[in-house]
Formats: sequence, C-alpha cells, structure tokens
Amino acid sequence: MLLIADVGFSQGNNYTQNYNKFEGLALTPPMGWNSWNRFACHVDENMIRQMADAMVSTGMKDAGYTYINIDDCWHGERDSLGFIHPDPKRFPSGMKALADYVHSKGLKLGIYSDAGSQTCGGRPGSRGYEFQDAQTYASWGVDYLKYDWCNTEGLKAEGAYKTMAAALRRAGRPVVLSICEWGNDQPWEWGRTVGHLWRTTGDIFNCFDCIEDHGTWKSWGVMQILDMQQNLRRYAGPGHWNDPDMLEIGNGKLSPSEDRAHFSMWAMVAAPLIAGNDLRSMTSETIEVLTNKEVIAVNQDSLGIQGFQYAVKDSVETWFKPLKNDDWALCFLNRGTKPQTIEFKWSAQEVADTIFHKQLDVKHTVYKIRDLWMKKDIGTTKKDMKTMVPAHDVLMLRLSSTK
Ligand code: GLA
Repeated sequence: MLLIADVGFSQGNNYTQNYNKFEGLALTPPMGWNSWNRFACHVDENMIRQMADAMVSTGMKDAGYTYINIDDCWHGERDSLGFIHPDPKRFPSGMKALADYVHSKGLKLGIYSDAGSQTCGGRPGSRGYEFQDAQTYASWGVDYLKYDWCNTEGLKAEGAYKTMAAALRRAGRPVVLSICEWGNDQPWEWGRTVGHLWRTTGDIFNCFDCIEDHGTWKSWGVMQILDMQQNLRRYAGPGHWNDPDMLEIGNGKLSPSEDRAHFSMWAMVAAPLIAGNDLRSMTSETIEVLTNKEVIAVNQDSLGIQGFQYAVKDSVETWFKPLKNDDWALCFLNRGTKPQTIEFKWSAQEVADTIFHKQLDVKHTVYKIRDLWMKKDIGTTKKDMKTMVPAHDVLMLRLSSTK
C-alpha cells in the first residue's frame, strides 16, 4: 500500500523551480550599447572600458543609456570543472574587474551567451552549464544577459529560456534576460514571464530598405524590420518588450535623415534602444540623434505602449503612440525617395487604440504640437496641418493635451 502511495505521490509531485524573470527590471525599454553591429567578434576589455567612458563623456548616459553589452566572442574556454573564463588575451583583467569599472561609471554590464552547445560565433554555449554559468555571471557582477539561439538542435525555445531564467533566479543577482531566438518560436506568446525583451526578427542589416541574402538566412534593413513588428504590440509593456534588434545609427551606411527615421521609429514602437556604433568616434550629428531627449521620452514613456501604424498613403506612413497624461506621439514616415506633402485635417481623424483603450480626442481637446527634431512648438490642433516630409525621413511630433 505504502509503496503504491509513494509512487503515486512521486509522479504527481512537481518540484517547482522558479522559472520567472526578475520583476521590476526594464520597466521602460532598456537603453544601452552593444558591440555586435559595429565590431562583431572584435571585442576586448580596453575597448569595452573606452565605450563606457564614451557613454559618459558624450552625454549618452545623461540621456538615459545604461547598459554596456558585450556580445559574442568574449569567451575563452571552460576549465576542467566546467567554469567558463573570458579569453585571456582579450580580457586579461577578467570580467569582474571589467564589471567593477563599468559600475564605477554608474553604468551596467551586459554579457552574451547561447542556449546551444556553441554560440553563433563558435564559442562555448551554455547548454548543460546553465546554472553554473548563471552563478559565474552573478559572481562577476553582470546585469544583463543576451541569450542567443545558435546550435540548439533538439531544444524547444520556451524550455531552454526558462532553464536560463531559473538559473539566473537561483544565482540571485537581478539580471535583465534578453531572449534572442529571432522570433522563430513566437517568443511574444511565452516570453513575458521568462525574459524582459525578445527579438522579433532575424538580424538587422545596415541599410534603410533592403534585404541581405546570406543563402541559408537573411538579414533585414530598417524598413523590413519595422514591417515585421505589425500585430505584436499587444504583447509589449513595462518589463516585457518586443525587440526589433539593435540600432545601426552612426555606422556609416544610413544618411542623416535615415538615422533620424530609424531612431524615431524605434522610439515609436517602444523598442529597446541599444546603440550599435563606435561611441568613441561619433559625429555631432550621430550624437544629436542618439541623445535627442524628447524622442527618447517617447520611447521611455511610463505607459510602455507600443505605437501603431494608423494610415498609409503613397509612400507615407502615419504612426501614433499613446503617452502618459493623454499625450500622443505622432510620426509621419516617408519611405519613398521623393519628398511628400502631407495635409492633415485634425477633425477628420478617428485615432483609437482599441487594444490599450486610448483615444485621441481632437474634437473636444486642443493639443499643443511640438516638432521633436526641430525642438520647436509649431501650433495646435485647432489649425489643420500642411507640411512636407523629405525622402527617407520623418516628421515626429508630440501632441500635448491642453485640457
Ligand atoms: C546572432 C544574433 C546577433 C549576434 C550574433 C553573434 O546572429 O542574432 O544579434 O548576437 O548572433 O554571433
């Protein structure tokens, strides 16, 4: 009898591990810098320290950027006990010293691993070492983990990411978990309790409007990535964000207006703002784009509502994003190669966010209009708007209720 009862009990006894991410982190989209877009595998401790210095000296820290994230290829080997070590040539002082340095600047350190046996760059992955790696990261003082999805044969994404979430939990240091499985297994459906952000697409490619075909996979221009964000906004909110990948601003391929459009649209869709350029040698134009505080305020708005496409006419898309205190962001994006005239009759607009239950009330409320790139008040919604948007550019506005 006892034996039968025991068997019954053990089968039904479900040990509950804590598979939930740390709460209270990333209540607005994470802001920082990551090495991959500009440097790929060429990372070392001097460069990371210089990036931390530059984040402070360029005003990016003051504008809200916090994370200094090392992407792939920092790894050396596992030792005989399975502990991972950084590449001793590139990181001779070790990760703890680097984390201490980054923290001394008032910034946070991010690191990268992979759910599979190897990372995408062929370095040791965390498969089978999840709890040990999480302990190691905690002992180094890591604050953010980007967890990739190469070489994961036979694994299911939800389970694999939950294993790492549980490992971080067990290690005890609050860490932002960035799910990077490229949207393959609909991470928006299961990622909310597991991580703080999830990639929705394959990798960004440094162009405004193109697709780069690598044979077995493709990478995507800024516009292509934007198109892939449709229908995902219901899944995003404080602590859990859709991630359309890191920024290509300042990486030399986009024109100044394209940089502006890229930044504006990432702000409109409440995307993580992770710069991917060399912060040590930015032009003043690049700094101006990346540190535009009023555009950043749209991205970092505490409601955490992802914006939506409201209308498309010719090459111009009109996007709205509800903000706190009944404010709205409004962005006209001209995807075409010719300037476009916009005529906007306020009383003819029916702007309703049916998912988050917000309404732009132009019939009863007068909104003050501010141009966020000109940094100028340009009137109110009492008067209809006629204006021009240059090719591959935006007009980005904030509407403030005067009620
Ligand atoms: C994948 C990710 C990229 C980058 C590389 C590193 O492609 O999607 O963002 O981390 O791996 O190898």
